[in-house]
Amino acid sequence: MQQNSRFLLLSLSLLFLPFIFSDAKKGPIIGGWTRIKDIKDPHVTEIAEFAVNEYNKLSSSSLVLQKVVKGETQVVAGINYRLVLKAKNGSVAKKYQAVVWEKSWLNFRNLTSFTLVKG
Ligand SMILES: *[C@@H]1O[C@H](CO)[C@@H](O)[C@H](O)[C@H]1NC(C)=O
Ligand SMILES: *[C@@H]1O[C@H](CO)[C@@H](O)[C@H](O)[C@H]1NC(C)=O
Repeated sequence: MQQNSRFLLLSLSLLFLPFIFSDAKKGPIIGGWTRIKDIKDPHVTEIAEFAVNEYNKLSSSSLVLQKVVKGETQVVAGINYRLVLKAKNGSVAKKYQAVVWEKSWLNFRNLTSFTLVKG
């Protein structure tokens, strides 16, 4: 019985090994960032809106999202979204970089960082 479960564990680890060491062409490297191809995906917009709303709440600002400029995702315990977005601060439009951590199966989202992009 114990022998069996040890064998099962070994088989399972071998099964997942290729995923951990696979390169960018074959699949995601754990910890690597992948460019989001469809920046207009409604879910990406939702994440950007969450980031701006959350930032507004935390810092008493009143930024208004204009659009997502580009973004990347990272597989963690869930997915990290790193988005460059354009938002209006009063009458001035600026670029910001927002990082949102999402665990969709738990309905969990958290704004990890929100910074002005210079230049
Ligand atoms: C928005 O503009 C105000 C006034 O110029 C400024 O104090 C504030 O830092 C700006 N906020 C952001 C997030 O850029
Ligand atoms: C969300 O992120 C902020 C800033 O990184 C952190 O202070 C806070 O504890 C986080 N909240 C949760 C529920 O993880």
